[in-house]
Amino acid sequence: MDLTVAAPPNGTRKPPLREQSWARIRELFALAPDATHLNTGTVGAMPREVLDTADRVTREWTGGLLDVYPPTLYPEHRATIAKAYGIDQDELVISHNATEGMARVIHGLDLRAGDEVLTTSHECYSVLSNFNLLRNRHGVVIRTITPPTGFDVRAEEVVALFEQSITPRTKVLAFAGITLFTGMMLPIRALCELAHRHGLTTVIDGALLAGMLDCDFRATGADFISCSGSKFQCGPLGTGLLYVRNKVHPEHNPLPLPEFWPIISTWYPMQGAPPPRTTTSVESCNIGDYLQSAGSASIARGAALARACELWDEIGRDRIERRVFELAEHARGRLAERFGTAAMYSPGSDPGLRSPLIAFHPFTDPRDAWNVKKVAEFVARLESEHRIWTRWTEFDVPGSPHQHYAARICTHIFNDHTEIDRAVDVMGRLAAAMS
Ligand SMILES: Cc1ncc(COP(=O)(O)O)c(C=O)c1O
Repeated sequence: MDLTVAAPPNGTRKPPLREQSWARIRELFALAPDATHLNTGTVGAMPREVLDTADRVTREWTGGLLDVYPPTLYPEHRATIAKAYGIDQDELVISHNATEGMARVIHGLDLRAGDEVLTTSHECYSVLSNFNLLRNRHGVVIRTITPPTGFDVRAEEVVALFEQSITPRTKVLAFAGITLFTGMMLPIRALCELAHRHGLTTVIDGALLAGMLDCDFRATGADFISCSGSKFQCGPLGTGLLYVRNKVHPEHNPLPLPEFWPIISTWYPMQGAPPPRTTTSVESCNIGDYLQSAGSASIARGAALARACELWDEIGRDRIERRVFELAEHARGRLAERFGTAAMYSPGSDPGLRSPLIAFHPFTDPRDAWNVKKVAEFVARLESEHRIWTRWTEFDVPGSPHQHYAARICTHIFNDHTEIDRAVDVMGRLAAAMS
């Protein structure tokens, strides 16, 4: 069902999604009616139309005799999605998730023993474990810095921390665009410029970026960005978007393209080498095809992710970004009123570091920040007693002998002010009862 063109019984056309209210847009989503979903950082809610697309396309291809390989390169879907992110089809891969995209980048980089990767201890497990594999297998040195936490963190501190840790052996700067633990949005462009000044390859874990930010991937200046399709982009589970810089636009990133081995590829030549990577704004090969072509794949998956992306374009990605952040600022304000800014692990003072993921300490005794059982129980009771879906996170805090545990909420376009207010009230009462 295409809601933009469906004609209601009186014959007047419904307004396009761009003009529809947020209450109406919320109705697009297959949400449990009695639950409050504040955990898009783990998985978003799918629009019904996306579910229908996955189902319809699966049925269309089941039992057919058509060649399944060409459509699994998703050329049209990749072109549509790429456009929404300011890039071209040859630079985009529909992956299985952010983890797979990151792993293919990490193991596709031309890193040797003694080369250094600079990253943070606040990366997703999937990123740190892949880097650790690289350390164990090839002797690559992984340097991790622990980002500062708290309401008053500033972007300059974060950039300075990275800069101090670069050595003559550093080859790669890898960081999450938004960390899943404290929800800090890293200063992406500033860090990429730092990398450019030092000749480094930039690898961004963008799991949480896609579908939230109205983002021009090329303008970030990054070499690689790996995103989830199932979080803020609200596509099916098992979908992701991988950006691989495949041409040189000096205004965005003046460095030559890094050496890159597209692992898991049926497109990579079986003999000889692919063409040398371009030094200009015209690609010398379709690196996206090299990575996309990896055996048979789910045709439905690509179609459903593409439909989710089209819906986002119809609603307006600029409008979505504004709404997500407006709800986040509402939630941040309410949480700060209830728990105090000292309870916040997520940045709040510096607007450039804010994101719609907000991590906080709910209890009155600060030592409970080390009490994983209590924080986990808080999150579990929100879900079991109040049907409020959040999560808890664990992360290093500079100077702390133990990891800290925090409760985390996320806002997305299917949320509204009323449910956020209610959720914060419930959290306040539950935390007081447990304190
Ligand atoms: C920052 C970050 N990176 C990576 C991942 C893994 O994402 P995926 O499940 O798409 O592999 C997550 C999941 O929560 C995440 O938040």
